[in-house]
Amino acid sequence: MYTSSGRATDYHDADMVCIARVHDYLRGGEHNFSFDRRYADADPELAHVVRAILRRERSFLGHAVRFMLNQGIRQFIDLGSGLPAKGSVLDITAQLCPDARVVHVDADPAVVEYGRLILAEQNERTHFLLADATRLDHVLGPSIVAGMLELHRPIGVLAIGLPHLLSSSARALSFLSSYGAALARGSAVAVTHLVPWFADRLTTAAAPLMAGPGKSVYPRRRRKVALMFDGFDMVEPGIISLSRQWASGPPAPDPLAGNEDTAMLAGLGIKS
Ligand SMILES: C[S@@+](CC[C@H](N)C(=O)[O-])C[C@H]1O[C@@H](n2cnc3c(N)ncnc32)[C@H](O)[C@@H]1O
Repeated sequence: MYTSSGRATDYHDADMVCIARVHDYLRGGEHNFSFDRRYADADPELAHVVRAILRRERSFLGHAVRFMLNQGIRQFIDLGSGLPAKGSVLDITAQLCPDARVVHVDADPAVVEYGRLILAEQNERTHFLLADATRLDHVLGPSIVAGMLELHRPIGVLAIGLPHLLSSSARALSFLSSYGAALARGSAVAVTHLVPWFADRLTTAAAPLMAGPGKSVYPRRRRKVALMFDGFDMVEPGIISLSRQWASGPPAPDPLAGNEDTAMLAGLGIKS
């Protein structure tokens, strides 16, 4: 377990900072407030590292959604969605397949409230649930009742930047396979996860920028991350480090250069 260094308490308005909005800011988005920006900018060096990780993670998300669309998947559950801003699942499907449905799930009421405001401009094919993503019944039940998901058709499940926020290893390792067991064949899952190298070198300092003020991140090794795909067949090339093969290539000097293999893992699975 890697706790934050307490840096968050140094910030005025830290209680109001929301990590989804901080990440939106670090990605150049517009859904953030001045105290989110102050929080993000407090340590420019850390912000630079986290920005690079987020850029690679977003790139993988795009790859995963395009893969799922190519498999014929037309309904998505975005677990720990954060805000549906530029480059999100909703943004990608709106461009490539406007008929696709996206259920956003987040446990932070501030994210859900703001997210619903953003979605108000979208069509009826989107939904935002306030729920614990690890509680399958809290996610699938309301989504089916709302007419958003059909269980007999394949569903794409995104767990991007989420499992390393879960403190309980048992919960983190098993919750995605409970989705796998409930969903139709052809359903798919995408995961990103911080690895311990990140923790050793950076997380003590960067955790508040990955998880939020006073929160921790729980990096896990590849072997553990592989267990999250139980019930799914891994899609080639398997669990990989988030490296240039997913990214178009950062134009600026890259703080992760040389360490691509060790900062964050990503993988795609499909239920056959
Ligand atoms: C790093 S942020 C956003 C990640 C987002 N998927 C992306 O790609 O930008 C992670 C989000 O997960 C949410 N979260 C944390 N634990 C959760 C849980 N158990 N269930 C649902 N959401 C959770 C947080 O509130 C936060 O908005």
